[in-house]
Amino acid sequence: MRLSNCHNFQDFRRMARQRLPGPIFNYIDGAADDEVTHRRNTEAFDTVDLVPSILKGVKDIDMSVNVLGQKLSMPVYCSPTALQRLFHHEGERAVAAAANKFDTMFGVSSLGTISLEEARQISSGPQVYQFYFHKDRGLNREMMARAKEAGVNAMVLTVDSVTGGNRERDKRTGFSIPFKLNLAGIAQFAMRPAWALNYLTHEKFSLPQLDDHVDMGGGTMSISKYFTEMLDPELSWKDVEDMVAEWDGQFALKGVMSTEDASTAAEIGCTGIVLSNHGGRQLDGSRTAFEQLGEIVDAVGDKVDVMMDGGVQRGTHVLKALAMGAKAVGLGRYYLFPLAAAGRPGVERALANMRAEIERGMRLMGAQKVSDLSRKSLQSR
Ligand code: LAC
Repeated sequence: MRLSNCHNFQDFRRMARQRLPGPIFNYIDGAADDEVTHRRNTEAFDTVDLVPSILKGVKDIDMSVNVLGQKLSMPVYCSPTALQRLFHHEGERAVAAAANKFDTMFGVSSLGTISLEEARQISSGPQVYQFYFHKDRGLNREMMARAKEAGVNAMVLTVDSVTGGNRERDKRTGFSIPFKLNLAGIAQFAMRPAWALNYLTHEKFSLPQLDDHVDMGGGTMSISKYFTEMLDPELSWKDVEDMVAEWDGQFALKGVMSTEDASTAAEIGCTGIVLSNHGGRQLDGSRTAFEQLGEIVDAVGDKVDVMMDGGVQRGTHVLKALAMGAKAVGLGRYYLFPLAAAGRPGVERALANMRAEIERGMRLMGAQKVSDLSRKSLQSR
């Protein structure tokens, strides 16, 4: 399969599957328990339909948005995701460069495989830091100070991961960071020699945000173990309030799903919230972000920037979220499969597809700018 044949999410997913060893593909593709929430994230967009306005004069489309004090040329951004070096040796470098090219926001994860500082060099565009709150408060403070120093524009604290989701695909494959090759694993990797060659002939895997603190000394760690052992299960609103004050800048809480929590987030000084169920990778059976969006926008949309992610595969999904009141929409697997399939050209092609779909969709909707989309543009099925 070739990049020039990739026209949509499923095409990129197929190409990534052909290139990646099974355990890595399944780490990206998989989710928690029965993966019901993961599937419903995308299906939720089908519960409403777009209602176009005609004859609006839509020659020049402006799809830019303002979120977390940043101007994005397009209403989607690359959500920070973990371990990108495993998917392709260009990892976060490719994603940062592609985000820069499309003038949108991207982020580096606490579990990112390049440093915040290096990412800052690659892109001059808005950069967020996906923060995990560790038991070690000293580590948290150090990570925050470092992020400030590095010129990160917004802090995004993920709070849906106080324990590891039950990812059964990872249990079956033994996926861990870095790899522990059991016999089955060796067979899987041997079946993907191009990936293995690429992995082994490029720089060593590392986690620059955590390396000094997480002892990987030859050992391995499952994602679930990291969440469960390293992150603070007692994390409270008070801790977040303190963190918001200490950061003293744009701060989004990610993983908010209830209206009550959204209001509390606004009260303690968050400037944004991201409705998210972590791509269905944590609590299976969770409601989808898109289904919660309207109610939460009505409650706090005038106080904080409401963003959402989960299941976004099409420009029209983005239009529906924007019409419902989201300020911007996060992408995860949408750019990770292209990264795995083809590195930077893959991510750029995926973002170009997304931009073209949004632009076409806006034209067909009669929306010259994002604020032309509203609840009137939607009808429930
Ligand atoms: C995951 C984390 C690391 O979902 O964000 O695997």
